[in-house]
Amino acid sequence: MVVPPAAAPALDVEALGLVHPNGHRALDGLTLRVAAGERVAIIGPSGAGKTSLLRLAGMSLRPTAGRVGVLGSDPWAIAPRALRGLRARVGLVHQAPPVPPRLRVVTAVLAGRLGSWSVARALASLVWPVDAAGAHEALGRLGLADRLFDRCDRLSGGQLQRVGIARVLYQAPDLILADEPVSALDPTLADRAVGALVAQSQASGAALVASLHAVDLALRWFPRIVGLRDGTLRFDLPAADVTRELLSALYAAEGGHVPRQDDTVAVRALGDDALDPAAASQVACGPLDGRDGRPLCL
Ligand SMILES: Nc1ncnc2c1ncn2[C@@H]1O[C@H](COP(=O)(O)OP(=O)(O)OP(=O)(O)O)[C@@H](O)[C@H]1O
Ligand SMILES: [Mg+2]
Repeated sequence: MVVPPAAAPALDVEALGLVHPNGHRALDGLTLRVAAGERVAIIGPSGAGKTSLLRLAGMSLRPTAGRVGVLGSDPWAIAPRALRGLRARVGLVHQAPPVPPRLRVVTAVLAGRLGSWSVARALASLVWPVDAAGAHEALGRLGLADRLFDRCDRLSGGQLQRVGIARVLYQAPDLILADEPVSALDPTLADRAVGALVAQSQASGAALVASLHAVDLALRWFPRIVGLRDGTLRFDLPAADVTRELLSALYAAEGGHVPRQDDTVAVRALGDDALDPAAASQVACGPLDGRDGRPLCL
C-alpha cells in the first residue's frame, strides 16, 4: 500500500523573534507548529504579540530572529514568483479591512481570488464582476447577501469586517490568518462569523489561526489554544485543558480579568456571588464548557 506523503504544516515557526525598528521586542523565541487543517486560537492581553505573530505568518513582516515556514516554504528564501503563489494560498482577515474608497462589496469579495486569477480575468472583473454569484454566496454565509452591490464606504465597521471575512471565504485559501476578526461585532454576529470561518476550515481542510479578544469565543470554537504574553508563549493546550488559573495568570497585567464576549452581562450576573464558585458556575460556565463537557468557569 502506498502511504500518501503527510501534508506540510500550515505554519511552522521556530525560535521566532521580532524586534521593531525602535528597539521594542514584540516576540521572543516563539516556537509553534500548526498542522494542515488545524484550528488554533491565539489569546493574550493587549501588547502580547498576537498581531506581530500573525503578520510574520502572513509574510508582511520579516522575523529578526528564528525561522518562519508557511505551507512548507520559507517565504524569505523563495523566488518572487513562488512567493506570489504562496501568498495566494494564504487568506488574511484584518481587524479593520483596508478598502479603497467607493469600492463595491462584490469587488472587495472577488479580490480574494485576484492572486490566483490571470491578469485578463482580474482586469475584466474590475469592469464587471466575473463571479457575482460566488461573492453573493460567500456574503450570504455572513448574513450580508443583500449588500452585494453596495459601496464599502457606506457600510458600518462591523459590516465591513464581515466583508473582509467573506473575501477570505471566497478566496478558499489553505491557511487562514485572522487578527481579531470579529472585534466590531455583537456576540451573536461574532459567533456566526467565527462559525463561518470554522465551517470553511472544516469543509476545505484549510488551517485556521485566529487571534481573539474574547476568551469564551476562542474556547467554544477552537480545539487548541495558544496563550501569549510579553512576546512569549505561555501555554499551548487543548481547549479542554485551559484552566481558570492559567487564564488568570495570562491576563495578570489586566488585573487577572479574563475578557469575555459580553463582559458587562457576565459581571452583572455574577454580582456578590462572584467569589462563590458554585454560584459563579451557574451563570458563568455556559459558553465556556470544555470539549469534554467539563465546565470551565472564569
Ligand atoms: N510598529 C511597531 N513599532 C514598535 N513597536 C510595536 C509596533 N507594533 C507593535 N509594537 C509593539 O509590539 C508589542 C506587540 O504588539 P502586538 O500588536 O503584536 O500586540 P497584540 O497582542 O496584537 O495587542 P492587541 O491585543 O492590543 O492587539 C507591543 O508592545 C507593541 O507596542
Ligand atoms: Mg493586535
